[in-house]
Amino acid sequence: MNNHEFLNENIVVSGMRPTGLLHLGHYHGALKNWINLQAVQPCYFFVADWHALTTHYQDPAVLAASTWDMIVDWLAAGIDPDKANIFIQSRIPEHAELHTLLSMSTPLSWLERIPTYKDQQEKLKDKDLSTYGFLGYPLLQAADVLIYRANTVPVGEDQVPHIEMMRDIARRFNHLYGKKKGYQEAVLKDIQSLGSDSARRFKQICKYYQETGTTDALTEGRSLITASTKLTLDAKACLMGYLEGTGKSILIEPSVSLTKDSKLPGLDGAKMSKSYNNTIALRDSPKDIESKILRMPTDPARQLRTDAGQPERCPVWKFHQVYSDTDTQLWVKEGCVTATIGCVECKQPIVFAVQAELAPMRERATHFIAHPSYVREIIASGCDNARKVAQATMHDVRQAMGLLT
Ligand code: TRP
Ligand code: SF4
Repeated sequence: MNNHEFLNENIVVSGMRPTGLLHLGHYHGALKNWINLQAVQPCYFFVADWHALTTHYQDPAVLAASTWDMIVDWLAAGIDPDKANIFIQSRIPEHAELHTLLSMSTPLSWLERIPTYKDQQEKLKDKDLSTYGFLGYPLLQAADVLIYRANTVPVGEDQVPHIEMMRDIARRFNHLYGKKKGYQEAVLKDIQSLGSDSARRFKQICKYYQETGTTDALTEGRSLITASTKLTLDAKACLMGYLEGTGKSILIEPSVSLTKDSKLPGLDGAKMSKSYNNTIALRDSPKDIESKILRMPTDPARQLRTDAGQPERCPVWKFHQVYSDTDTQLWVKEGCVTATIGCVECKQPIVFAVQAELAPMRERATHFIAHPSYVREIIASGCDNARKVAQATMHDVRQAMGLLT
C-alpha cells in the first residue's frame, strides 16, 4: 500500500493496443522512450487488449496473435522484464473493477467531450462505435493508470485529453471518498517540521511499515512523532494517521509526459503506419530492408541522375536526419543539390544503419519465438507483480466506498 507520491517514487504507466508486428515508427515514437524510462523509474507497460476490443469487438481472432507478436517485439526492442513490469491488461481484472466503481461518479459529459470520441466515430465509419464500451474507453484508461497510483504517463499528443480527464477523475474520487484537500501538502509540511534527520527517518519508517506491516517500525515512528517538540497536537495527530495509513489521498493525479512524434516518417514520407503500407517492421530481413529503402520515392525533380534535387522534398533525407552523422548529412545535402551523388548511392548509408539497428532485435525476436514458454513466464510474473499493486489499491478503494463490511 505505497503512497508513491510521498515516497518520491515516480511510477510510470503506459499501454499500447495490440497491433501485431511493430515497425520503426513504434520504435522511434514510443518504445525508445519506454526503454529510457525503465532504466530510471518503476514502470508498468501493458498490452491494452480491452482497449483494442472497444473498436474491434467484431474481430477478436486477430487479438491473440497480435498480443504475443507485440510482446515479442517489445522484448526484442529492449523492454527489459528485470526493469519493467510487462503484462496484459485483461489478466488484471482489478482494472475492470476500478472502471466500474469510477463509472458511478463520472459525469457523462466528461466522456462525451473527449475529442477522440467524435473524431474516431467519424474516422472509423465502417465500424459501429455508438457503444457503451467505446464511450467509456477513456474511463477504462483512467482505471489502468490510477490503479498503479502512477505519477507519469508517457503518451502522444492525441492522448493528452484522456490524461487530463484522469486527473479530474482522481481529484473527484479523493474529494468524495478520501481526505480533505491539501492533506498531502499538510503532511509533507508536518514531516519537514520534524527536522531533516528525523524527517528522512520518518519517511523510511513509513515506507517500511506500509510495505511490511512490522510493528517495530510503527513503534519507532510513533516515538519520533511524540518526541518532537516542534509539532502542534493537530500535526501530531495528522502524522500518526499518515504513518498508520488511515489518512491519505486514495488515488493520485498523474501527469503527462509528452512523447514527441517520431521524426521518422514512413517510406513514402507520410506517417509510418501499417494501413499505409509504408513501414519497415522490426523483424524485416536485411534483404527486405534494403529493397524497401531502395524503392523509396525521392525528390520528384530528380528524374535523371544529372538533375539536381532538394533534400527537403525527399523522405530519404528525413531518414538521414534520424540515422546519419553530420558529415554524412553534409555529403547528402551537397551531393543532392549539385547532382554529384545518385539517389541509390544516397540511400546506402540508410540501408546499413537500419540493418545495423534491427539486426540485434531480429536476433532477440528469433530467440523469443523459439522459447514461447519463456515469454509466457515473463508475462505471468509481470502480471503477478502488477496484480499485487492493483489489489492493494482496490483494497483502499473498496474501503473508501463502503464495500468492506
Ligand atoms: N489509449 C491508448 C492508445 O490508444 C492505450 C492505452 C490504454 C494507454 N490504456 C493506457 C496509454 C494507459 C497510457 C496509459 O494508444
Ligand atoms: Fe533524396 Fe538523396 Fe536523392 Fe537527394 S540524393 S533526392 S536526398 S535520395
